[in-house]
Amino acid sequence: MTHVIDGNDVASRIENDLEDCLETLESAGVTPGLATVLMSDDAASETYVSMKQEACDEIGIGGFHRELDPNAPAEKLRETVEDLNDDPRVHGILVQMPTPNHVDSRRVLRNIDPRKDIDGFHPENVGRLVAGNPRYKPCTPHGIQKLLESADVDSAGKDVVIVGRSDIVGKPMANLLIQNAPGGNATVTVCHSRTEDLAEKTRGADIVIAAAGVAELVDGSMIREGATVIDVGVNRLEAETERGYDLVGDVEFESAKEKAAVITPVPGGVGPMTIAMLLYNTIDAASVQED
Ligand code: GUN
Repeated sequence: MTHVIDGNDVASRIENDLEDCLETLESAGVTPGLATVLMSDDAASETYVSMKQEACDEIGIGGFHRELDPNAPAEKLRETVEDLNDDPRVHGILVQMPTPNHVDSRRVLRNIDPRKDIDGFHPENVGRLVAGNPRYKPCTPHGIQKLLESADVDSAGKDVVIVGRSDIVGKPMANLLIQNAPGGNATVTVCHSRTEDLAEKTRGADIVIAAAGVAELVDGSMIREGATVIDVGVNRLEAETERGYDLVGDVEFESAKEKAAVITPVPGGVGPMTIAMLLYNTIDAASVQED
């Protein structure tokens, strides 16, 4: 029987533990604060940001939301970030990616106070991650480590194939998995759009992590019997449903489930973990800044 990991369940267990940390901070007079900045009218980004804010409200983290016109000058975003850097109630700052084309996102990330960069995207924090001394682990890859742990899948010594080389998932995931640390010690291959024979790579993997943003790119024929399959994709496919679309992952779930020993669904797999680890990093940021 294939084990389908329940990401909602793993996330709510983590959030329960975080509630204890929050109580300790509250009794010291500290309320962690997270600022989200949205400069986009993309429907998916709007949804993600509002889910992050709701999660903060539910657990008792202070939410500070800034919404900018996507046509506003880049300078406006820089000023917003600087305001938040200077606000002592704000311990974490998240600028939802992607930003509009006229905004240099690297510059935006450089402007965030690295101590408040709970995404772990500031170059100082990327450097620390690569050096094996992360300040904050990027939320989605960290959440995936927790999902693997919850299913007793030890990455040590395993062949892991990551499909996708994004700064948000693929690259930090590879870095975490090669570290000589719990949740690491794997042999990692990072595949991308120029990989010549993707199926040959994924078929050789003990663990496949699909994060390419291509609907149902990985199917059962590309999975080794008994492998672990983690699906990071959230793709909206037009459909005649009430909301007008269906959500599908980067993995063709039904055929992959026939082969895999462990698999994550979409939705209800990786998604809830990204939010749980964002809360985790924000509480961590508050603990360090208020120490
Ligand atoms: N866009 C998609 N995922 C993320 C994320 O984890 N953080 C930010 N800031 N933007 C994103």
